[in-house]
This record gives sequence, structure tokens and C-alpha cells, in this order.
Amino acid sequence: MCLTSYTALTTQLIDPHVDLILVGDSLAMTIYGMDSTVGVTLDMMIAHGRAVARSAGHACVVVDLPFGSYEESPAQAFRSAARVMAETGCAAVKLEGGVEMAETIRFLTARGVPVMAHIGLTPQSVNALGGYGVRGRTADQAAAIMADAMAVDGAGAFSVVIEKTAEPLSRAISERIGAPTIGIGASVTCDGQILVIDDVIGLFTAFRPKFVKRYAEIANPIAAAARDYAAEVRARQFPGPAHVFGG
Ligand code: KIV
Repeated sequence: MCLTSYTALTTQLIDPHVDLILVGDSLAMTIYGMDSTVGVTLDMMIAHGRAVARSAGHACVVVDLPFGSYEESPAQAFRSAARVMAETGCAAVKLEGGVEMAETIRFLTARGVPVMAHIGLTPQSVNALGGYGVRGRTADQAAAIMADAMAVDGAGAFSVVIEKTAEPLSRAISERIGAPTIGIGASVTCDGQILVIDDVIGLFTAFRPKFVKRYAEIANPIAAAARDYAAEVRARQFPGPAHVFGG
């Protein structure tokens, strides 16, 4: 059972309930208001990874390697992963890609870096994929994604995120590979599931993907609290006697 988190307080709230916390580069949208994950930097991931790792006592913390920090070569990936692990205290890193990343995953795992792979829809490649559509519905695409799954599994990934991928293919991958699969918009037969915490609590309301289920709706209470606070301050009703200090 996995969720994303990006901050200390959220981590403290979810940590007892989940097995794995991902400091996802989805922080591009949830924290920084960006349009995609492409602009996320290693320094951003390290800052949030450190806050989360410091605040988690139970769950395994995994930090995303951002776009541009690992694709060039296994050596570049190791430098980035080593920085992330040393500077955040996380247990593992996640990177996107399949067959083309297998050599890098093998290189990292052989050097003490546990790697979570991420296949299917890989948001960092949105410009090459041409959008965020469902993956694996055609026979060619399904064969390519199955090959990705087998390659990252064979390279030593300790688990594999399958994102927004047709259910029959997600199911077939989960049955075929040895590493635990973690689904997001994939299949209930995946070994685990992950969602973005801001989606789960109804904080991120810009859009709601089909694969998201909201377990709370906190956007309206936050807006209402700000509205009520502002009204009381303007009316000089806050701070009241209970919130000031006698002389
Ligand atoms: O960045 C992220 O939050 C992710 C999950 C959606 C798997 O990669």
C-alpha cells in the first residue's frame, strides 16, 4: 500500500497506514503549480525527500529521480541517486522507463541503490508520448510494455509501478514478473496500489483522472477556513480574549 507525500506534516499523518511513501515528481503539479513533471530538478526532489524521510518512522521512503537526472548514462544515474540517498536518507529511488533503462537499473542495484521502476504511462516522457492517454491498448504497445516489465524485472528493480495501462495487460504483467507490481490506473491484481495524496484527500481539484478515488474532500473546508478567518479579522472579532496575552 503506497501513497505519495511531499511534506513533513502529511508524512506524519499517513506514515502509520502505508508501507511505502513515494516523494513523487508529481510535486511539480501538487506543490509547484507546474503543468508537467519535466521541469522538476534534483534539488527540488532532495528538499522534499529530506522533509519526508525525516518524518517517516514506519514506511519505506522512495524518492523520484527527476527528468534529466538519470537518462544520459548509468554513471549519471548513480551520481544523482547517490546524492538523493545521501542527502535525504530515503531507502530507494524511482525512475521511469523500461527496456532502455534496464542497463541503468542493473548498474544502480549492483552498487547499492534499490530501484523502483515505472512503466506504462511515464509522465516525464509526455512530450515524446504525445499526451497522457491510456497505454497498452494496441497489440504493439502491449508487447512493448510487457517487454519493458520483463526488462526492469530482470535488471533487478525491487518493484514496478504500472501507470495508466490497460487492465488486461497490467494483470498479465503482474502474473508474469517476479517483482511486486504497484498499480495506478492499472489493475486490482497488481501487488500494491499507489495514488497521489492530494488526489486522495480532494485537495488537487484541477482535474480528476478516472483512476482516482477521493477518500476525503478537504478543498472546500480549507477555502471556508480562509474565508471565515478573513471575515473575522476584518470585523475585528479575531483575535478574541482567548487568543491574546494579558499584561
Ligand atoms: O510522481 C508520482 O507521484 C508518481 C506516482 C503517480 C506513481 O510517479
